[in-house]
Amino acid sequence: AIACTVMVDGEPVCACLVPAASVEGHSVRTVEGLANGRLSALQASFLKHGAAQCGICTPGFLVAATALLEQNPHPSEEEVMDALGGVLCRCTGYRKIIQAVTDVASHGHNAALDLRSPAAGQAVGASPIRLDGIPKVSGTDKFGADERPADALSVLVIRSPHWHASFSFGDLDAFVAAHPGVVAVYTAADIPGKNCFGVIAPFADQPALAEGTSRFRGEAVALVAGERDAIEAIDPADFPVAWNVLPHALSPAEARAEGSALIHAERTGNILTQGFVECGDPEASLARAAVTAERLIETSYVEHAYIEPEAGYAFMEGDTLVIRACTQAPYMDRNDTSIVLGLPPEKVRIVATATGGGFGSKLDVSLQPLIGLVALKTGRPTYLAYTRTDSMTSTTKRHPAYMEARIGADAEGRITAMIFDGDFNTGAYASWGPTVANRVPVHASGPYVTPNYRAVGRAVHTNGPVAGAFRGFGVPQATIMQECLYDDLAEKLGMDRLAFRLKNAFRKGDRTTTGQVMEAPGIVECLEALKPHWARALADTEEFNAGHEDVKRGVGIASCWYGCGNTSLPNPSTMKIGIARGGEVVLFQGAVDIGQGANTVVAQIAADALGLPLGVFRLLGPDTAVTPDAGKTSASRQTFISGKAAERAARSLREKILRFANVSAKAVLDLGDGVLTVREGDAVR
Ligand code: FES
Repeated sequence: AIACTVMVDGEPVCACLVPAASVEGHSVRTVEGLANGRLSALQASFLKHGAAQCGICTPGFLVAATALLEQNPHPSEEEVMDALGGVLCRCTGYRKIIQAVTDVASHGHNAALDLRSPAAGQAVGASPIRLDGIPKVSGTDKFGADERPADALSVLVIRSPHWHASFSFGDLDAFVAAHPGVVAVYTAADIPGKNCFGVIAPFADQPALAEGTSRFRGEAVALVAGERDAIEAIDPADFPVAWNVLPHALSPAEARAEGSALIHAERTGNILTQGFVECGDPEASLARAAVTAERLIETSYVEHAYIEPEAGYAFMEGDTLVIRACTQAPYMDRNDTSIVLGLPPEKVRIVATATGGGFGSKLDVSLQPLIGLVALKTGRPTYLAYTRTDSMTSTTKRHPAYMEARIGADAEGRITAMIFDGDFNTGAYASWGPTVANRVPVHASGPYVTPNYRAVGRAVHTNGPVAGAFRGFGVPQATIMQECLYDDLAEKLGMDRLAFRLKNAFRKGDRTTTGQVMEAPGIVECLEALKPHWARALADTEEFNAGHEDVKRGVGIASCWYGCGNTSLPNPSTMKIGIARGGEVVLFQGAVDIGQGANTVVAQIAADALGLPLGVFRLLGPDTAVTPDAGKTSASRQTFISGKAAERAARSLREKILRFANVSAKAVLDLGDGVLTVREGDAVR
């Protein structure tokens, strides 16, 4: 069972594997059929437990769990896990989903859902039902692939099957003529603007369609546009392109080796950029250290594996190109798409659909310039939903890391110095490589005092998949290194691993390796809170291992830190708020909610700052024609930064209202029946 699970005669099946004709005469129930005038108890329970985050998997879970509960109203947790075992969720970690199902099983089918929103001034700190929750559990949320205009063209993306190859096209006109229903083939020669995009403008280097040479396997080289049936009937192997395979490098060591071909002519040694942080005298301190530990660690590519592949459609609205697609960064999509298509930014409108997870990879444009090109050239709506193969081969990954490091400590277990050197495989194009190269040296020491330090991080080009943003921008890779070395040092010193970390953890007033003074680091409190659990886990493990010869358990501890928001880049967010004539507060909320809850959290913050209850809020956006630029959804920045922008916008609106009503800051607002009432003492306005 997967996200497309439906019930046929009460049995869960994958809709994608069942031909529609085969269910004639049978009963088919989808998520849309679960509510009967009101949400089912299970749908309500999903909302109550926060079991729907991005919501792309939610229909599959709801249907599979409904089938289970109809056959077995009181399943055990194991039975729930068995029944849901094949449905994948990338956001929740499954616990909330299992709890939502077992809660219904144990409390019967009358579980009431408290849909009341928190009172004015009490939104922050409350756990309201998420504002965008009901569409997620009732199947009405619109994800990237959910809307396809009836007259939309389809697109087949022709991709390079080689890591590195030059190519030339055969007779494209003959190919079009031989395939009725195919409207056109587009190549780099058809791109009207600058065939180059990238999330960090000074490093932008990626063509929307490769020009004569492809630098990684899966790179787009041509588009075939046509009617849906015609496109689906094409065998990509028939497309007239001749490949000339070139030598390739897949690891930084190969790419940096003497004589290795340059992947980008201007980037010497295939190094995109490097970051560097130094303080004190690490060599001398390591030489004096009581103990040192060193390692060489490699980490692999990691695919984001959001359940929703990239999808959307483009169409012309007058002379404006409109793209409705899943994304984490509407304004960045607008900029890159406008550059590639040679349009002024205001002639490209990006409307974010519900986004079924992103985890960093939907920060870079994917299909936007491609469907935009076809819509612009043909004037017809153009739809594209990436296959899983398209998605995995062509979009960004976590950077594989090749790291060497050495850390020293004194006899009491205090860290004295660290030297770190890491190559981060950024693949064929820059994407977020500069951020990784810069952020890793800032954070490779972990949340611990490290008085003498040198760290170098390099983003190295290879012919591998493009590596980009993924939780922590390289810092989790460096954390593996630093935390392993901490274990080694604790062992050498005969110290408990938690005690060793506590000894070195940042406290108020400590300085980071870049000189930042810690005001409220919090790591000591976290580690202190772990103490009893750590002691118990160690004891349990010891007992288990004493009684088992062939199976052994281990227990580990690690800390990680990384910056919230952009590294070495501006970090602005803009929010707009107003009161509509109909009596609603309208929050122009451009911070994309990819499941993390920005729609609700940002509104909660705004509600308390304005002094009105969350229930009177209506959200608009994200839409570059409607909502101001809230920046991208990445690096945990939306709650902190867009939340602050929403707070300031709401405060500013409140001040205007109070000034207009000539009352003090203590006045209480009320909005009902289209009337805003301001009360202070006996004064009512
Ligand atoms: S909520 Fe399950 S994949 Fe996002």
